[in-house]
Amino acid sequence: MITKLNKGPHLKYEYYLVDTIPSTNTYFKENYKSYKDKSILIALEQTNGRGRYDRIWKSSNNDIIFSILLKENKNYAIIAPLAICLGLKKYNIKAGIKWPNDVYLNNKKLSGILIEDIFNSKFVASIVGIGINMTDKPSLYGVGLNINKDKFEIIDSIIEEFDKLLDLNKSDLIKLYRDYSTIINKDVYYQGLTYKVVDIDLNGHLVLSNLKGKITVSSDEINIKESLLKYENKN
Ligand code: BTN
Repeated sequence: MITKLNKGPHLKYEYYLVDTIPSTNTYFKENYKSYKDKSILIALEQTNGRGRYDRIWKSSNNDIIFSILLKENKNYAIIAPLAICLGLKKYNIKAGIKWPNDVYLNNKKLSGILIEDIFNSKFVASIVGIGINMTDKPSLYGVGLNINKDKFEIIDSIIEEFDKLLDLNKSDLIKLYRDYSTIINKDVYYQGLTYKVVDIDLNGHLVLSNLKGKITVSSDEINIKESLLKYENKN
């Protein structure tokens, strides 16, 4: 059963809580018409959590699981990972963004974000699904927050930052995103050549450079994890 919470420092956001659900993203995809812009669904457990590229997203007890329903079209791929990093800074956790939108801590994945857009000839809604590990996941090379804090408080802190970021223009957002990026200056192997990651442009694309010049690639064109690994294996 989904219950509406009478809470949140941000009254613009409506909070809902469910004990167990297949996936908070799937729920909003199927029921977005019944919910207002800026509704948040928090689940204590997900039985069919979904990740990017049709992967499964497994959560353990106490992990943070929520989705935000947004009816305005904004650059959530930039905003969401930044909101997580900024929201966690309050707890002295120095997380960074592994382009395009994974959040890493000490070189391991802390949080994943699944953004799904609904179009009906024009933009209708975006669903920003966020999963954050509270405990380490050795088998998945995942790291947990490992802090003794109420997860609703952590979600509030992230939402507070998310809300502030909604007002920033694209170039200020990208500037901030660059500050939190963990891959600038890293070497990657792409289409048979090695490059250095030199920037993230205003479209959120990666700018790669080598002696031959610069190229830009979107997240559909490069699998950054594999490209970093391939580079490491080559050297
Ligand atoms: C990824 O790294 O592949 C993205 C993982 C996203 C997981 C979250 S948990 C809340 C929301 N509901 C889902 O089914 N997925 C997202």
